[in-house]
Amino acid sequence: MTTPGQLEGDAALLRCAEEHLSAFRDRYGQEEGVRCFFAPGRVNLMGAHLDYNGGPVMPAAVDRGTLVAVRPRADQRLRFASSSEDGGLELDLAGELPPRSGRWVDYPLGVLIELSKRPMADGVPQGVDVLFGGNLPVGAGLSSSASICVGTALALDRIWNLGRTPLELVHAALGAERSFVGVQCGIMDPYAVGLARSGHLLWLDCKDASSQHLPIDASRVTIGVADSGVRRELARGAFNQRVAECRRAFEALRVHHPADCLRDVPWEVFETHRAELDPEVARRAEHVLREVQRTFEARDALLGGDLVPLGRKMTEAHVSLRELFAVSCAELDALVDAAVECPGVLGSRLTGAGFGGCVVILLECGSEEELRRRLSASYEARFPHPLRIDFYSGGSGPREL
Ligand code: GLA
Repeated sequence: MTTPGQLEGDAALLRCAEEHLSAFRDRYGQEEGVRCFFAPGRVNLMGAHLDYNGGPVMPAAVDRGTLVAVRPRADQRLRFASSSEDGGLELDLAGELPPRSGRWVDYPLGVLIELSKRPMADGVPQGVDVLFGGNLPVGAGLSSSASICVGTALALDRIWNLGRTPLELVHAALGAERSFVGVQCGIMDPYAVGLARSGHLLWLDCKDASSQHLPIDASRVTIGVADSGVRRELARGAFNQRVAECRRAFEALRVHHPADCLRDVPWEVFETHRAELDPEVARRAEHVLREVQRTFEARDALLGGDLVPLGRKMTEAHVSLRELFAVSCAELDALVDAAVECPGVLGSRLTGAGFGGCVVILLECGSEEELRRRLSASYEARFPHPLRIDFYSGGSGPREL
């Protein structure tokens, strides 16, 4: 079923694509022969900070994302440029590929390198002019990096007829971030972006990467995403610190119980040996183990058609992220507290790594405008950031427009 939020999202995307094609023309000359690809961003409803602990997650795509406009060239040169970021890249596909630069082009370049690891049918591929753009905010916790990587993988695959499967494109995106950009990210983001299906959440078990699409009843509920406007430079360092703390908990607990990841440590083992852990590390582990349990319960509720407990689990997850995992901030707490007081709201929590960015809100259809009004008024009265709220029903996956 098509919802009002989805129609709004589709119309906004088409407008954005038109502007993008005109930006392509301004940069590279006429737009004849250009193809335009889209990869969405994502929100995560359950399973916060579980992917790098081998746990389950429940993300969905949003109808905002990265646009990749591509036109083949007559030679073997490749040009990358962005409509929003400075600097680009120009290279000869028959020559050596450049090293990491620390700039945004590392993402698409990393994907190119990943795709080149397997022989391409026609040897050196045809040159291309590529322009990146779109309407996904960077640093808002909506996974702009996985979006640009999956979008690049899809666009190059189609232009060069590589015939890679969606999962292979997901892995090209993941490999780019891990091997080339150098971020030790979990698997959730590229999977969520690359395998998204309209009207569904993705159930992804990050231990074995098995996945399943869970339908979400768009006639009953909608997914709100409220952007706090807070962007923290320190977020990456703090994220890496959480990864390291979870690793420490796992190393200490696995001595008492054989396990492949923190998710596999039984609660009783954690309880018995909690005192051996640094208290902060113990709190991180407690969040992980309780969140694993909550995420399974949330899935059961969704499968049983009962969305009230799903919403409740989301709000419980936020409390845990604030108290035990310490990745929230005053703005996100204020948004969640105000959202859960609004009529029709089933639950709310921060999404992404935290420290700023967005909160996700599960609400009954028909409650959108009241939520928008109340949330904006209470937030903007307290903080100097304008609030942006969008509504989605589980966006579509990557595709050619
Ligand atoms: C960031 C990471 C994801 C995941 C989330 C927390 O968004 O990129 O891999 O770890 O944080 O759930």
